[in-house]
Amino acid sequence: MRKLAISILGADFMDLRSTLELCESLGDRLHFDVMDGHFVPNLSFGFPVLASLKTRLPIDAHLMIANPEQYAAQYAAYCDTVYIHAETGLDIWLDCANQVRSLGKNCGIVVNPQTAVEDILPLLDQLTHILIMSVEPGFGGQECQTSVFEKIRTLKQQKPSLVLSVDGGINAKTAPLARDAGADVLISGSFILKAKDPAHAANLVRGVSVS
Ligand code: DX5
Ligand code: ZN
Repeated sequence: MRKLAISILGADFMDLRSTLELCESLGDRLHFDVMDGHFVPNLSFGFPVLASLKTRLPIDAHLMIANPEQYAAQYAAYCDTVYIHAETGLDIWLDCANQVRSLGKNCGIVVNPQTAVEDILPLLDQLTHILIMSVEPGFGGQECQTSVFEKIRTLKQQKPSLVLSVDGGINAKTAPLARDAGADVLISGSFILKAKDPAHAANLVRGVSVS
């Protein structure tokens, strides 16, 4: 069944508890964006914040950091799934996957809009979770590049068991296209957290019709 993951990048950090409660009432998963100012030109939050989160939702940590192999295990301790960018190198991804999986957690791979599906095919046998970026990583609130949804179709055909997520600019207009392409997890941040009516926004992303 298709899932909604809410990115807390745009949360009100003075009132993170309320954001988590909202995410728990509307979403299936929590999306935690880690940025280091090197791999992407922005900083967000890191391990101490993650370790302090109290939530019943499974957490996906999206590591937009240089040298993820130094930190992957630390994040895995508090997550369900750790996502590492293909752009850090396939050998680095394999190193991270070994560390994360030895802790009994999932390790997914992330592909930027410019990265071709063919670039990760050498790893296909080992992949269970793939995150397709529909914006350049680094900032919330960007416009979705819907052309990347074709990657979802290609990957689903190649390996139907993959859990495919899409991240960036997912809203009422772009979510139906991502759903049609076969996305399993829709990641949405600002469209839901900045909405006047977040519950309605979440329904629109899920494609639930409400009167
Ligand atoms: C971008 C992040 C996304 C982003 C999603 O680098 O990985 O998770 O926060 O937020 P919206 O939905 O605002 O694009
Ligand atoms: Zn993300």
